[in-house]
Amino acid sequence: MSLTYRQSTLIRGSLPMLRAQGETITSSFYASLLRAHPELHNIFNSANQATGRQPRALLNIILAFAAAPNHTAELIPRLERVCQKHCSLGITPDQYDLLGKYLLRSFGEILGDRYTAELREAWEKAYSLLARMLIGREVQLYRQFGKWAGQRIFRIEDKVAEVDDIYSFYLWPVDKTPLPLFTPGQYVSVRVDVPQIGYLQSRQYSLSEAPNEEYYRISVKRDRGVPSGANGRSVDAAHLKPGLVSNLLINDYNIGDTLSVSHPAGGFGFDSSTAGGMGPLVFLSAGVGATPLMSILNSVLESPDVQQQISWIHCSRRKPLFEDHIRTVGRRHKNFHSRFWRSMLAEQEQRETHNPERDGVFESVRTELERVERSVLGLDHGAAEYFICGPDAFAASVRNFLLEQGVGELRIRCEWFSTGELEAS
Ligand SMILES: Cc1cc2nc3c(=O)[nH]c(=O)nc-3n(C[C@H](O)[C@H](O)[C@H](O)COP(=O)(O)OP(=O)(O)OC[C@H]3O[C@@H](n4cnc5c(N)ncnc54)[C@H](O)[C@@H]3O)c2cc1C
Ligand code: HEM
Repeated sequence: MSLTYRQSTLIRGSLPMLRAQGETITSSFYASLLRAHPELHNIFNSANQATGRQPRALLNIILAFAAAPNHTAELIPRLERVCQKHCSLGITPDQYDLLGKYLLRSFGEILGDRYTAELREAWEKAYSLLARMLIGREVQLYRQFGKWAGQRIFRIEDKVAEVDDIYSFYLWPVDKTPLPLFTPGQYVSVRVDVPQIGYLQSRQYSLSEAPNEEYYRISVKRDRGVPSGANGRSVDAAHLKPGLVSNLLINDYNIGDTLSVSHPAGGFGFDSSTAGGMGPLVFLSAGVGATPLMSILNSVLESPDVQQQISWIHCSRRKPLFEDHIRTVGRRHKNFHSRFWRSMLAEQEQRETHNPERDGVFESVRTELERVERSVLGLDHGAAEYFICGPDAFAASVRNFLLEQGVGELRIRCEWFSTGELEAS
């Protein structure tokens, strides 16, 4: 069931108008979907709805797919990210029909008389093709999750203040059955009841310890919201809102409390079967972005015959997360190098898409990275692998720097903590 030539042409003809009205579509269609199905507030991230980030990301993918439904290769990494996120949130196939109904209705409202029965049928088919691709992949992922579909209850056995505003939670499964060995770099979705809004909310947290069958560790940074005038810019009042879930976890969840957690998910990972290979591993993080990289580092170090050079370059505003551990590793492993630098950058999480100073960020990251020896960055080694995680502008800048230095794209992997970043970077 592919689109006919005429249907593709009709769809392409409608794209300029839909693209131009993207903001109207995203604000109106989710509003009507959530009005008719308020229970979905429990699934969608309220902040990403308010800022429009997730609806925008969804619309971008649908329009990109519809523009070239037979050439989806470029979209695959983005679709994979979506499926991983969906599965960590327990999205089900039947919800696709519901979302499609409201989305296509909003297309009809934008296109008016141009939304003929023929065009509507073409769009229904295009949406259904994309939905079927996503559902197919999600079925596979759910199958891999095995018995742990949905949420599993964990008890907080320990809560450790790591550095200013970042707390680690040690989570042990209440049912005491062994945990699956996730791929280092993956995240879980933690779901909590948020009394302020009267709904459940899920947030993703990278697993910050090497895989093991007993417990998981997550490390959560308090999101204070941005004070007015941060970085010399004025910000709108909404940015003063402290983050809902991070503050709730840090303020109200203590040792002995339970948390509802999803199966690990996410495509940012490290294949530990290659640990002990010869290419240097270079970790580049900022702020709380050290979490998934710590899981990767610790799992690599578990291998008794680690030979390759490992470097960790970290940027933070104050004391770096996991600094003591990283320095201890440096003392024990002769082929390990660490470099730390201080910058406000590490505080800018989640807001850089609106940052008019992206070029400035790039320049400052480049200046810092140019101070690091090329050998530590593995720049003259054709097989070095790079793992980047931090605020969007940091990650994008590091990536650009590496590309400029001739590092091949396939050797650079980034984890993004915000929604829809692949489009923004
Ligand atoms: C794959 C992945 C891994 C992650 N790993 C980690 C991790 O290891 N550790 C970690 O600490 N975090 C991690 N995160 C981030 C985490 O999921 C949350 O996004 C973070 O904790 C903030 O959630 P919150 O509920 O506290 O804030 P939210 O309530 O989601 O708010 C987020 C921001 O949006 C702003 N905001 C809210 N409403 C509006 C509005 N109307 N207009 C403008 N701005 C608004 C808030 O002020 C706040 O700054 C990860 C995210 C992903 C996707
Ligand atoms: C063809 C259909 C769909 C597409 C193209 C799509 C696309 C997306 C995209 C691009 C993201 C952001 C991923 C990221 O960058 O992290 C996302 C997240 C999400 N999607 Fe979908 N999606 C579809 C269907 C659905 C359905 C049917 C539901 C359930 C009703 C759903 C619920 C969610 C939720 C809850 C999130 C996470 C929200 C957040 O963290 O802000 N999606 N989706």
